[in-house]
This record gives sequence, structure tokens and C-alpha cells, in this order.
Amino acid sequence: MITITVNGQPRQVDVPDDMPLLWVLRDELNMTGTKFGCGIAQCGACTVHVDGAPTRACQTPVGTLGPDARITTIEGVATAEGPAGKAAQAVQAAWRKLDVVQCGYCQSGQIMSAVALLTDNQNPSDADIDAAMDGNVCRCATYIRIRAAIKDAAQTMRA
Ligand code: FES
Ligand code: FES
Repeated sequence: MITITVNGQPRQVDVPDDMPLLWVLRDELNMTGTKFGCGIAQCGACTVHVDGAPTRACQTPVGTLGPDARITTIEGVATAEGPAGKAAQAVQAAWRKLDVVQCGYCQSGQIMSAVALLTDNQNPSDADIDAAMDGNVCRCATYIRIRAAIKDAAQTMRA
């Protein structure tokens, strides 16, 4: 049995140590907001936060996460305590305001990467945004709206 902490709640799962966190979230805990895209850390669809850092859940064996690792998913990020929760609320409002989403498949991962960026940097340059969002692929090419929404959320956070 492995204990992990997801969105502030301790969860016990009876899985092998090498099972990717993405499988645990989706198949064991029924938290399907985090998406499977490539499975090889190339698309960003599975991005969650581990101790605040954007992390590819498809390439994170659950056994490498102790019970003290704070895992945050798209389901819990907007109610997270502290700066990440504030950033998530600003990001989700900006996403709605600018109608960022097209098919939606990549967007949980996009939002998690954007929240991690804005938690640390409330005035990101284009280069900062490019660097933070580089690993998040969108097949619908919503990149221009994503960038505008990150800037909008940053402005909200600075106000
Ligand atoms: S599914 Fe994890 S990076 Fe693509
Ligand atoms: S919105 Fe369709 S893949 Fe990004």
C-alpha cells in the first residue's frame, strides 16, 4: 500500500511502485481531469504540481513520491492554499474571459503550467511564458490565446 497526498488529502493506493502517477490519478482515484496524451513526457497533457513544481505525471513513478509530497491536480488547484490557489483562480477566470479552450484536451496541463509560472512570477515576459509553456502542446493551436490569458491573469494578480 502506498500513501500519497493529493489536493491536501492523504490517499492510499494498492499499486506497484513503478506505476506512473497519471495512472494512479485516473484509474485508481478516478480523477480524470489530468489527461493522457503521449505517455513519454512530450506533450504536457498530464501536468500536475508536485510541491508546486509542474511535473509530468506520466513519467513520475508513484513510488518515488512519499506521503509528504504535495500533489496538486486540476481538480484541486483553484482551492489550493496560498499563491498557487490565487494564481489558479486568476488563470481560470482569464481562460474563460478570453475563451481560450478549443477541444479542451490539452487545457488541464496548460493551466497547471500557467499556474506554476504565475505563482512565482506575476509579471512574465513573452520569453518567460515561452519557457514555462514550452512543453505543453496544443493540437488546436490555441497558443496565442493562452499567452494573452496568462498576461490577463498576471494583470489580475498584480491589481
Ligand atoms: S502524457 Fe505526459 S507528457 Fe504527454
Ligand atoms: S485545445 Fe485542443 S489540443 Fe489544445
